[in-house]
Amino acid sequence: SEQNGGSNFPYEKEELKPEVRAELAKYYASEPDFVTVGPKKYIFLRPYLEDVENVYHMPLRPSDVFVVTYQRSGTTWTQELVWLLANDLDYETAAKIPITERYPFLELFMFFNKEWQQDLLERYEDKDKALDLIEKIAKPVSERLRLAPSPRFIKSHLPMCLLPPKILDTAKVVYVARDPRDVAVSCYHHSKLFKVLDFPSPFKDFWNLFIRNLFTETPFFEHVKEAWELKDHPNMLFLFYEELIKDLPAAIRRVADFLGKEVTPEQMARLCDHLSFENFKKNDSVNYEELREYGVLSAEEKFMRKGKAGGWRSYFDEEMTEQAEKWIEDNLKDTDLRFPTVN
Ligand code: A3P
Repeated sequence: SEQNGGSNFPYEKEELKPEVRAELAKYYASEPDFVTVGPKKYIFLRPYLEDVENVYHMPLRPSDVFVVTYQRSGTTWTQELVWLLANDLDYETAAKIPITERYPFLELFMFFNKEWQQDLLERYEDKDKALDLIEKIAKPVSERLRLAPSPRFIKSHLPMCLLPPKILDTAKVVYVARDPRDVAVSCYHHSKLFKVLDFPSPFKDFWNLFIRNLFTETPFFEHVKEAWELKDHPNMLFLFYEELIKDLPAAIRRVADFLGKEVTPEQMARLCDHLSFENFKKNDSVNYEELREYGVLSAEEKFMRKGKAGGWRSYFDEEMTEQAEKWIEDNLKDTDLRFPTVN
């Protein structure tokens, strides 16, 4: 492990044990190059280390609006909502510019290491376009964000402890949480969609790695609880995916209040329609389809998958259901966090 070399970064970076790496290699198509950061051992792909300290120290502005989540918790849905409310419901620009550009993802680059970049350049004919894609998705964005005009919209799946420590003194954060069983199912499919993650093993294997904190940006409960602790801060809005599913207008009102925006009944109706799962699936500006031509996505999967709460039931056998209940119960012992039930 590597000590922090005199900089103001408080966390240690550590390697996984060789036996854990060997075990992971059995489940993935190719062994993911994971490292952990800090005492809770948040797990990342190695390239993240290039930017971990820059992110932690990134200068913030009062107009910044972050959407922070554990992945597959409704990030994109919330980003689109926040962006539209903050930009006078400018549907035209929202349709023209993909969410990936309007709302850059802080640590996206960690999924696309040097080998992946090399491979893309070899197999993709239009080299300029390949280089452009590498620039967009495979390079840290903290520097680009430093130079970006205000207001800035920033997406991250980092836990609060790895974002700038005083983030809420300056910037706004919308955090979204979701039932971890649905998150795990969604992450499992996500690992099939993005070829870089390539997880060909059954869901049960995925689930066991997920609850052992061996999937990117786990431990899940630490992630959610860190944000939950901050939920009453005026610059933090804590939402549940289940809340958006149950009553989208109410969730929209919460976000609008948080951003200091008024929404008329007509605007509300249009916004709900725009944010409906059916329309989202067809909306190429939010569904990441622009990546498909580069061979990044697998043919069998889509970013917008089911859009439901409670779908985990058809993936869990009895043993897993009990295991999940116990795991959730154990992790909720020391907190008043509860995931809303939908059905
Ligand atoms: P499923 O895989 O369960 O369908 P993220 O944006 O954080 O990656 O989250 C993706 C999850 O949110 C996916 O879950 C996706 O379908 C769901 N989602 C995205 N937009 C949605 C919408 N408009 N309505 C309902 N669910 C949505």
